[in-house]
Amino acid sequence: MKNTETLTAAPIVAEADGKETANARQFYRDVITGLTSTPKYLNSKYFYDAAGDKIFQELMACDEYYPTNCELEIFSEKTVEICRVMIGNSDPFDLIELGAGDATKSSYLLQNLLDNKAAFTYLPIDISDNVISYLNITLPVTLPGLRFTGLNGDYFDMLTKAASLSDNRKVVMFLGSNIGNMATVEAERFCAELRKHLSPGDMLLIGFDLKKNPATVLAAYNDKKGITRRFNLNLLERINRELNADFDIRKFEHYPTYDPETGACKSYLVSTCEQQVKIGMEMIAFAKDEYIFMEISQKFTVAETEKMAVNAGFMPVEQFFDSKTWFLDAVWLAG
Ligand code: AVI
Repeated sequence: MKNTETLTAAPIVAEADGKETANARQFYRDVITGLTSTPKYLNSKYFYDAAGDKIFQELMACDEYYPTNCELEIFSEKTVEICRVMIGNSDPFDLIELGAGDATKSSYLLQNLLDNKAAFTYLPIDISDNVISYLNITLPVTLPGLRFTGLNGDYFDMLTKAASLSDNRKVVMFLGSNIGNMATVEAERFCAELRKHLSPGDMLLIGFDLKKNPATVLAAYNDKKGITRRFNLNLLERINRELNADFDIRKFEHYPTYDPETGACKSYLVSTCEQQVKIGMEMIAFAKDEYIFMEISQKFTVAETEKMAVNAGFMPVEQFFDSKTWFLDAVWLAG
């Protein structure tokens, strides 16, 4: 890896204000760190620029990508039961959603809580200020009467902020098997850190994609229309757009794998030839067949999720499955 000064001095295309500049510099540093490592990798959190968000919407609607539909089925079929657990003994609570996006999934729960006149405030947290601005406009229309405060920033900074806003008990939602996009050690550390930001009696509703027929899992990350392929290649295009780079995406192939023993579903982009790619001031060399590790989408057994809860200082108290038992939304209590 090159020294930090060289990295931060590199030209950045998108510079609107201070925060954006800092984000762009971080993006550049992370890309160069990943692509000068052996083996090469990129952080999948960077998939989600405006173009990536749009491709992800397409992906969620495609035939093979089952997790979204499974979780939507849970929220639409088990709404009453889930909301009953959240409402508990009727003490007011703050319902915090990490990575809220457009809040489509949680809207089933939010509507039911409103219908039941539950005493709660919704606090969607998202790293994207576009998402929070969007929710500020849409939530009053889609869910009239909802009390909410959008929080833009890092999850843990915003959880600290949420704690300073009220003493209400906290119910945190981390949906969509986003936890699966972290390596196991990182996921355990994340849950333990989450626990530190909560008090005894607070609750976590967390989504897990479960181990299932390996062909079903692999197909979800290798869809026939090539949407997942575009989703991965978009990150190279994003690097071109934002970091003054010259990736030729025709020279990279999408290669998804699934290991049913470990439950690790991984995506790679493989260089089809020996090539050099310019990124800002750096030149990155690729050998023929060299790969970039793009993303992990970990699949779990129910026992593995329970172990993760206990290791992080939670008690698993309720489990909600879809009809095929492909997906689990688990309720964990902070002990
Ligand atoms: C957001 N996350 C849970 C998705 C997943 O299934 O890992 C992202 C994704 N990557 C490829 N397809 C979907």
